[in-house]
Amino acid sequence: MKKMIVAGALAMLPVAGVCADDGEKLFKKYCWGCHHQTAEAFGPSFSTIASKRTKEEIVAQIVDPKSTSKVFGYKRSSMPSFSDLDPEELDALADYIMKFKDKR
Ligand code: HEC
Repeated sequence: MKKMIVAGALAMLPVAGVCADDGEKLFKKYCWGCHHQTAEAFGPSFSTIASKRTKEEIVAQIVDPKSTSKVFGYKRSSMPSFSDLDPEELDALADYIMKFKDKR
């Protein structure tokens, strides 16, 4: 009986999945070589990106940069696509980038 109660309580705990804090980790792992938070690098800074794009546009660019960079007005698309990231990771990354809106 006691075992069942414990199992029930465990089932109610939120799943230890990806959370917003992981955005920074993912950024360091996948993006930092080309993007910095507030300084321009090979790609635009996150503060530049966040001030002109929506979260949806950011996610689209991560998954399929070939299509979005044209829409965004780039002549060439030099960013690799990260299509193996799962939806939670994409969400965490986009949230992390949006935090730099208006930061210089
Ligand atoms: C190899 C270098 C490189 C890596 C790694 C890279 N990017 Fe980019 N990114 C670029 C370049 C260059 C551009 C400019 C547009 C283009 O060439 O496609 C860009 C553009 C973008 C844009 C759109 C910019 C705009 O005008 O709004 C977003 C959003 C973005 N990157 C996010 C990311 C994220 C998030 C990651 C990590 C998952 C990442 N990038 C990894 C090079 C890179």
